[in-house]
Amino acid sequence: MAITGIKGFNDILPNEVEKWQHIENTARRVFGLYGFSEIRIPILEKTELFARSIGDATDIVEKEMYSFTDKGDNRVTMRPEGTAGVIRSFIEHKLHAQDQVAKLYYMGPMFRYERPQKGRYRQFHQIGAELTGVTDPMADAQVLTMLCHFFAELGLTEPSLQINSLGCPECRPAYRQKLKDFLRSRLDSLCDDCRRRYETNPLRALDCKSTGCKEATADAPSVLDSLCAGCAEHFVKTQQYLKETGTAYEINPRMVRGLDYYTRTTFELVTGLLGAQSAVAAGGRYDSLIEELGGPALPGIGFAMGVERVVLLLAEQEFRKRPDIFIAALGEPARKEAYRLMCELQRLDVSVEMDYEGKSLKSQMRRADKFRSRFTLIIGEDELGRGNAVLKNMDEGVQEEIPIGAQEIAGRVKYPAR
Ligand code: HAM
Repeated sequence: MAITGIKGFNDILPNEVEKWQHIENTARRVFGLYGFSEIRIPILEKTELFARSIGDATDIVEKEMYSFTDKGDNRVTMRPEGTAGVIRSFIEHKLHAQDQVAKLYYMGPMFRYERPQKGRYRQFHQIGAELTGVTDPMADAQVLTMLCHFFAELGLTEPSLQINSLGCPECRPAYRQKLKDFLRSRLDSLCDDCRRRYETNPLRALDCKSTGCKEATADAPSVLDSLCAGCAEHFVKTQQYLKETGTAYEINPRMVRGLDYYTRTTFELVTGLLGAQSAVAAGGRYDSLIEELGGPALPGIGFAMGVERVVLLLAEQEFRKRPDIFIAALGEPARKEAYRLMCELQRLDVSVEMDYEGKSLKSQMRRADKFRSRFTLIIGEDELGRGNAVLKNMDEGVQEEIPIGAQEIAGRVKYPAR
């Protein structure tokens, strides 16, 4: 009998790998623009690291970790997430001594003993980023904007951003108590898990998927009404920064995360396209974690996305690398101009396609449709006579006549007006 792989551990076959590389390359490129550097950390860490950071009473630590005793009698765990290891490394190597503002990203396999289903595996992959040392909400907005920029670069219109604030050690205990008081008379309606977690982690009932918990918590007090002045101001300012750059979001006061280290801002990028596994990426602020792990008292914020879920989403939204521009040209002088412009734009880091065979405008436009380019540039004889071409934003359906100039066109394509 042939030996098969382990349940929940997947092979990524050659025909799939291209998508993975595209996602990883896009992350490297986009995160690089924001000044993030890659860090590579081990898969195996001391079990204690995860118990202390993620929290003893979380599902991950209680039920899902691949932990074992190695030959030297040490308790070790295959990392269930990346933040704890990155922060351990940040402290151990005193990266804060060079600059307390570290911007780090990582990618690789994580392990959780969960019940496998579509979008949920026992070995899965995350691409994550962490920013340390900044309390100002500008950091929250920057990290969120980078994450949304990444999804936009993949040409995905899903997922959408939901944000919340979980308060801080000053205001959260009071909210916890308020919620416990509210839940006390409703304990019988809660699912077994949430009833068991009532003392240790009552907030989890708010985002539990079971019908009983949903009904019992429908009128629960909102965490946002219990924020202290500092947390409330932080949340408002984060939103102001997001609005400043047109990053769309929704507030979801019922979002609680499955890891204990969060303070203030938390967020998820959610989609309706993947069934029960709706979170494609998630994260938040962790202003006490670095100190709790034995480092200096520095704040942090970060996120991780599930790469398998991004791959599924790309399949849902018909993955194809979308070129930035398709250039269509009418007549020989326009074709020459189009070719010159294409090469110049490619050197400016803009991806360009055109019809090398110079067919009719109709067939060129069919090819443009096939490529699903974000823009098309049409160079006709009349426009060329004026030194112009027509640039059409295919997603917005708007077009304008603009002067032919690679710099000018690259600018418009990379930073389309909203
Ligand atoms: P998390 O919400 O546990 O957060 O995981 C982040 C993402 O990893 C999820 O939104 C999901 O896309 C993916 N994911 C989690 N478990 C699985 C699984 N079993 N199968 C497939 N995909 C999965 C964290 O891990 C935090 N470290 C995020 C963070 C970084 N917070 C601050 N910095």
